[in-house]
Amino acid sequence: MAEIIPFDARDGYIWLNGEMVAWRDATLHVLSHGLHYASCVFEGERAYGGRVFKLTEHSQRLIDSGKLLGFDVPYTAAELDAATEAVIAANGVADCYVRPVAWRGSEQMGVSAQKSKINVAIASWEWGAYYSDLRLTRALYQRPAPNTAPVKSKAAGLYMICTICKHDAESKGFGDALMLDYRGYIAETTGANIFLVIDGAIHTPTPDCFLDGITRRTVIGLAKERGFEVIERHIMPEEIDQAQEIFVTGTAAEVTPVRAIDDRHYQVGPVTGQLVDDFRALTRAVANAG
Ligand SMILES: Cc1ncc(COP(=O)(O)O)c(C=O)c1O
Repeated sequence: MAEIIPFDARDGYIWLNGEMVAWRDATLHVLSHGLHYASCVFEGERAYGGRVFKLTEHSQRLIDSGKLLGFDVPYTAAELDAATEAVIAANGVADCYVRPVAWRGSEQMGVSAQKSKINVAIASWEWGAYYSDLRLTRALYQRPAPNTAPVKSKAAGLYMICTICKHDAESKGFGDALMLDYRGYIAETTGANIFLVIDGAIHTPTPDCFLDGITRRTVIGLAKERGFEVIERHIMPEEIDQAQEIFVTGTAAEVTPVRAIDDRHYQVGPVTGQLVDDFRALTRAVANAG
């Protein structure tokens, strides 16, 4: 197994509350509200050739996620964009993953923390393929209903069940978990949106209780440009038996074919292959435009 280099023991730079600081100095206090009460939102972005794909959409989503948790990220999208570009340049890795995060600080330690400071950090690091030979198993938990959690926020708290489900899947030899929603429809994996190819048409769950991913929307656009029919609807778990191809999309995952769901196996078919290529071409074009 590859050696794990802890994230607090690396070198480079992290943008923290308006300053570029040495990587190892980007610390926070243990009595931070974001840690205890999950008052924390984040983003995941990928840069290609030094340019983040859909940067402003990600910066805006960070701000919107914070609003859904009742706080204002104290920077504009344009300021976050500039800070992101600066941190990528400082770290000198042009093809990288970028992690902006915003959280309530340590001024108040209780459920109420109206006067706590909102902190923002942005880090970037080299990160290769998120999935390889992706096989899924049914998740332990379901995505919560929209009236039980701020499901449109990329909120750290919502990832608690994702980590539990992913660990459970890994312990059973799978790469990730297939999460159903609160009604029992197919939702997504713990870190990517899902698509089923059924008789040439592309079906994907309606994102009414999970993230409508930026990659998801991009891939739907690419598919339509290719003339594929894209149908957003509620999908029952049994329908995986009718699919000829299944793939997932996400910033980290990009477009990744699903090779199996439990004991049902899938080939990497022509629709998935086309969209993998089209997404790669699009992100390479972003890199080359820089
Ligand atoms: C739970 C979850 N769903 C979907 C996505 C895909 O979203 P995006 O394409 O905006 O990265 C992500 C990744 O951010 C995710 O963590």
